[in-house]
Amino acid sequence: MLTPDIAIIPEHVAIIMDGNGRWANKRGLARTMGHSKGVEAVKETVRAAGELGIRYLTLFAFSSENWNRPEAEVSDLLGLLRRFIRRDLAELHRENVRIKVIGERDKLRGDILPLLLEAEETTRNNTSLTLVIAFNYGSRDEIARATVRIAQKINAGLMDPSAITADTISDHLDTAGIPDPDLIIRTSGEERLSNFLLWQAAYSEFVFLPDYWPDFNRDLFIEALKIYASRDRRFGGLSARPAAVMG
Ligand code: IPE
Ligand code: IPE
Ligand code: MG
Repeated sequence: MLTPDIAIIPEHVAIIMDGNGRWANKRGLARTMGHSKGVEAVKETVRAAGELGIRYLTLFAFSSENWNRPEAEVSDLLGLLRRFIRRDLAELHRENVRIKVIGERDKLRGDILPLLLEAEETTRNNTSLTLVIAFNYGSRDEIARATVRIAQKINAGLMDPSAITADTISDHLDTAGIPDPDLIIRTSGEERLSNFLLWQAAYSEFVFLPDYWPDFNRDLFIEALKIYASRDRRFGGLSARPAAVMG
């Protein structure tokens, strides 16, 4: 596989995989077909991320608000996640991929939680790509849960309220230890976060693609990475780029 010429590869890419339903509608198919095709795009994306030297790939698989969908669709989505882990865990493990799951876990019922824990446990010492699966994930819920944990430590006398910093909050989020996303990609033409990584996205670059998620592939990934590489990240400071190349 030819390595594309991309000036800067982000350390962490997060993706809001959107548009499965519309992809199917456009073809006169049931929404569930869009979700199945979306899983193929996930596989290609994970492979490409590893090949391109990305260290962290976060995929928004199911939001805390997606429970509001009809029961049959929720059950389809859970079924696909189950199948993905059952069928593809061994291969991901062979490819040295480390899996980490973010999102609310305590209220999950059935076999989903044990499966997610198994995926994390099996791959915990792997050292290539870290694949972060955002499942039952909502950023406000994550921040609320982090706040509870901090309050509990204060109550137990383990933490001084005046010592709380932004890092304290980061360290209590589900993403503790994972660098903030450099690039957030959303497919399907929607341009919103939908409760995804609100805290962590403080300085992320955004790339919104018109394509529906099932059509996402290595080429579109590379296109997004090239857009990212052309951006000038300033973090509130001044440009590190030579003035001559600035617009
Ligand atoms: C993304 O596609 C998959 C999930 C949200 C789980 P959608 O199902 O949201 O597809 P659209 O947005 O309705 O087209
Ligand atoms: C965001 O997409 C959630 C995932 C991709 C898992 P949605 O389709 O749920 O977002 P909204 O409802 O259009 O904002
Ligand atoms: Mg959607």
